[in-house]
Amino acid sequence: MFEIQTNTAASKPELYQDLCEQARGILAGEPNVIANAANFAALVYHSLPDFNWAGFYLYDGTELVVGPFQGKPACIRIALGRGVCGTAAESRQTQLVRDVHEFEGHIACDAASNSEIVVPLVNADGSLFGVWDVDSPSVGRFDDEDRAGMEALCAVFMEAVKASH
Ligand code: SME
Repeated sequence: MFEIQTNTAASKPELYQDLCEQARGILAGEPNVIANAANFAALVYHSLPDFNWAGFYLYDGTELVVGPFQGKPACIRIALGRGVCGTAAESRQTQLVRDVHEFEGHIACDAASNSEIVVPLVNADGSLFGVWDVDSPSVGRFDDEDRAGMEALCAVFMEAVKASH
């Protein structure tokens, strides 16, 4: 069994660094991308405070389709360019949304969500893999340290995707 380690005295960058190491450990040697995505979502969701949803939307060649996640059931399909996820996918830029109610076109899956961060996931050949989406019930939950930390975590995940080919 995998034990999640959370050092509550650590700074946010330290927490993310530690989480990256745990993610590397949990993904190492496993080529199944869905299994890795499921464990990655569970690890992140249960290691950091104040989240109500954390998971993947995977690109099927046409649109984003919900993948492994933790949280309440979510919208299944999101077109590129739609909502925070579709915007991240289309622009290939991380979207850090302080208050989802101020983001035009935000797709409300869980009424409890008030802030959100979405990181685009791009394959080694430049094609779109999907997005990594985390929601919080608190306005302003995510800052630049979370952006850097989530992007570092996603880089660890995409290394595992690359290794599985
Ligand atoms: N809020 C997202 C939709 C996905 S859920 O948050 C899980 C969006 O606007 O794209």
